[in-house]
Amino acid sequence: MDKFVIEGGKKLKGSVKIAGAKNGALALIPATLLAPGIYNISNTPDLKDVWTMTRLMGALGVFCELNNSELFIDAREITQLVAPYEHVKKMRASFYVLGPLVARYGEAKVSLPGGCAWGPRPVDLHIKGIEKLGAEITLDQGYVIAKSKGRLQGCKFHFDISSVGATGNVLMAATLAKGTSVLTNCAIEPEITALAKMLTKMGAKIDGIGTTELIIEGVDELQPVNEETIPDRIEAATYLIAAAMTMGEIQLENVNPYHLTSVISKLEETGCEIDINSNKIFLRADAPPKPVDLVTAVYPGIPTDIQAQWTAYMLTAEGTSKVTDNIYQDRFKHVPELIRLGAKIDIVDNAAIITGGEKLSGATVMSSDLRGSASLILAALVSKGTTEVLRIYHLDRGYDNIEQKLKKLGAVIERHQTELV
Ligand code: EPZ
Repeated sequence: MDKFVIEGGKKLKGSVKIAGAKNGALALIPATLLAPGIYNISNTPDLKDVWTMTRLMGALGVFCELNNSELFIDAREITQLVAPYEHVKKMRASFYVLGPLVARYGEAKVSLPGGCAWGPRPVDLHIKGIEKLGAEITLDQGYVIAKSKGRLQGCKFHFDISSVGATGNVLMAATLAKGTSVLTNCAIEPEITALAKMLTKMGAKIDGIGTTELIIEGVDELQPVNEETIPDRIEAATYLIAAAMTMGEIQLENVNPYHLTSVISKLEETGCEIDINSNKIFLRADAPPKPVDLVTAVYPGIPTDIQAQWTAYMLTAEGTSKVTDNIYQDRFKHVPELIRLGAKIDIVDNAAIITGGEKLSGATVMSSDLRGSASLILAALVSKGTTEVLRIYHLDRGYDNIEQKLKKLGAVIERHQTELV
């Protein structure tokens, strides 16, 4: 188990090349199960979650090789239709393989994903949507077993809750169903729009891409394609907040500013100076931030995946602010760890009330989930003295070379191997 040792107090200054989106790649890779052939997915980030997905694909018979962000996928031969618990328990996005497998082969057996650090995270919408397409779904010993007599049939399906994963899963299945499907209240996160664009390149017929209503005309077969993963908007937001917290300046490269409109506007509200062009974002902060409340929402609102980082940011504000998560009610495992650094935060229902301006000092803190770990790193950057962040395998799931990127910006951060838990 690795840990980071961080010396606080350094301003961040410089530029960072943003990697491909974790949640983008995790949606594109399962899509290759829909059509036999060779695929190249460029701008794929070198992350634990991507490796977990490629190992799951390997278990299904698909050969994957990642070299310098080029992901080569040989999906000519699928040798099994079972996604085992050993893979799915590591990463919920593994559940994405259900839709493509049952659409193409008429059957699939996928382990139910485990829980997360912050809650049950059900998959009922994935299951309901694929059932509506005509699959018969049973649960057996922790596995979802989907079977369809003949081809899936197009359908009308409304997502009761806007769900990124369920939209991706059902959309992929609908592309090979017979007839038309109308999916409403779809997620419109950029990663889903990018998936729909890749499916269209593969020959799928999808109208309404980028909107909450997707109309899919099923086709008999799809073709393999090459695709590029979109930039990681959550990684980008994390570095913008890191620079703002340390009153430094940063230039992000290889980023899509238009995926971050709501975040950029919030950062400007705190007093940051921000300039953007087509693939760059420049941020400068000369003073501590004004306290600014945050309320997460589905895209294009503020992503839940930055609420932990924003909470850390508001520790440096002169005043009180409130961070409300309307997507996940209890995604606050990082708060007790931030309090160990001297933070003053109260949790009321699904909100964190932050009393900014407290002096933070280094301590040993424990990561418990991906974005929560990022908030601990950010807080350590502005804490006096040394902070040790344990269990950083959580971070390695979603941040590509974070310590190198932070070091290049002037942070004092070292990775240490530990046998401690
Ligand atoms: C995706 O998870 C992301 N993961 C998450 O990012 C992100 O936090 C989340 O979307 C919300 O934006 C990937 O893309 C791999 P959801 P997903 O289905 O698809 C409820 C990160 O840090 N729901 O959009 O699992 C659910 O409980 C990760 O990178 C159901 O009720 O999220 C939640 O309240 C963490 N039933 C809401 O919908 C379902 O069947 C949104 O969840 C599915 C979801």
